[in-house]
Amino acid sequence: MTEAHTLPASGTQAAPTALPPLEQTRHLATEIPGPASRELSARATQALPQGLGTAQQTWAYRAGGGIVEDVDGNRLIDLGSGIATTTVGNADPRVVAAAHEQAQRLTHTCFLNQPYEAYLALCEKLSDITPGDHAKRTALFSTGAEALENAVKYARAATGKSGVVVFDHAFHGRTNMTMAMTAKNNPYKKSFGPFPGEVYRTPSPYSYRWAGTAQEAADEALAQLALIVDAQVGPENIACIVLEPIQGEGGFIVPPEGFLPRLSEFCADRGILFVADEVQTGIARTGDMFACEHEGVVPDLMTLAKGLGGGYPIAAVVGRAEVMDAPHRGGIGGTYAGNPVACAAALEVLRQCEEDNLPARAREIGEILTSRLREAAESNPAIGDVRGRGAMIAVEVVVPGSDKTPDAAKVGAVARACEQNGVLVLTAGTYGNVLRFLPPLTISDELLHDALDVVIQQLTV
Ligand SMILES: Cc1ncc(COP(=O)(O)O)c(C=O)c1O
Repeated sequence: MTEAHTLPASGTQAAPTALPPLEQTRHLATEIPGPASRELSARATQALPQGLGTAQQTWAYRAGGGIVEDVDGNRLIDLGSGIATTTVGNADPRVVAAAHEQAQRLTHTCFLNQPYEAYLALCEKLSDITPGDHAKRTALFSTGAEALENAVKYARAATGKSGVVVFDHAFHGRTNMTMAMTAKNNPYKKSFGPFPGEVYRTPSPYSYRWAGTAQEAADEALAQLALIVDAQVGPENIACIVLEPIQGEGGFIVPPEGFLPRLSEFCADRGILFVADEVQTGIARTGDMFACEHEGVVPDLMTLAKGLGGGYPIAAVVGRAEVMDAPHRGGIGGTYAGNPVACAAALEVLRQCEEDNLPARAREIGEILTSRLREAAESNPAIGDVRGRGAMIAVEVVVPGSDKTPDAAKVGAVARACEQNGVLVLTAGTYGNVLRFLPPLTISDELLHDALDVVIQQLTV
């Protein structure tokens, strides 16, 4: 009889041969984009379809800490984390070591055929750390959109109802169902319809753009929701209401205090499942492990992706056991869903979040970002609003002296100028006029201040 194999405890794997450390300073070796990036862009024009638009002009070569080095040797400060994904740092050595250890043993079986422990361990961990003491189950997928698709499948199977309610400014993905759930037409939906039916949209309390106080915005949004749910569609036809606890692509729209608990109660009162889409907000990003925790909200289902894998493609749906157990055997899955290498990476990410108290680091980063940007807003009327939570902060840019007219052109110009000066920033917003900051939590204060000097200067030009 052979001995059973003992799996290595996470965090103890030997690191594969390491590259020299990536210097943690901003450095321009060439003009931006440099010759090597320009050459790759020229090749891309021939080889790639134009629908694959890239926002940045530089091509990445390696990254880590708070820096992305491009193919020309320029070191740019990373304020985007690959859209909130490399939260624990890009190519983090401990995540790479965990993935490497797993990859040496097993890269794939398809969990639906032959199971492996890394999948199970990750599901157990997620069920354990997500909000709520009730019995939970977790299933794994590869992308955020796939998690949302499956959350809808679970909700429909469990309730026997088909309606899905989503919000203005929502982004839930680019597959057919999630395009229907996403609000913004261009670029996400334009020319790609028709979309599935039974998706209903309700206003999101965007208090910066609504008249009155934040509380009045919350009251009005709930009144509109009641109109749609109770009067127009009927709660008996609605399986779930899906909301990002802070709307990401929509422009980091933070719901007024109290809105999420009231929404959760609204759902419970009507037998509708509340799905929190934490694909962008989850995994220490907002200063809590999950953004729902900020107000003690316990969703029925939660979707996760992005930060969970530290750069490896992995996504999850975590939910009430009775909901998750509703679909028939074999009804859920996918060839790559819960890939073992990505599971090993995710387990290491979660270990770091806990042991290194990454939510606290997100809060520190948030304080630096908000205090610097609010100070800049005092003398810069183009900064209409500074909002967000933890390491998920944005500025909404408007035409000075106007009635909050969105200035998307300025945001595009600032993002380009920042890159030319060695800082990577992302844009967002229904009106395209939001600059968003999602730095890796491994960025140093020094680099963050240096990046903010550049951003604030470009916002003032
Ligand atoms: C809140 C939210 N949901 C879903 C998605 C879709 O995730 P993916 O791009 O991995 O399919 C995103 C991606 O930005 C997101 O921010």
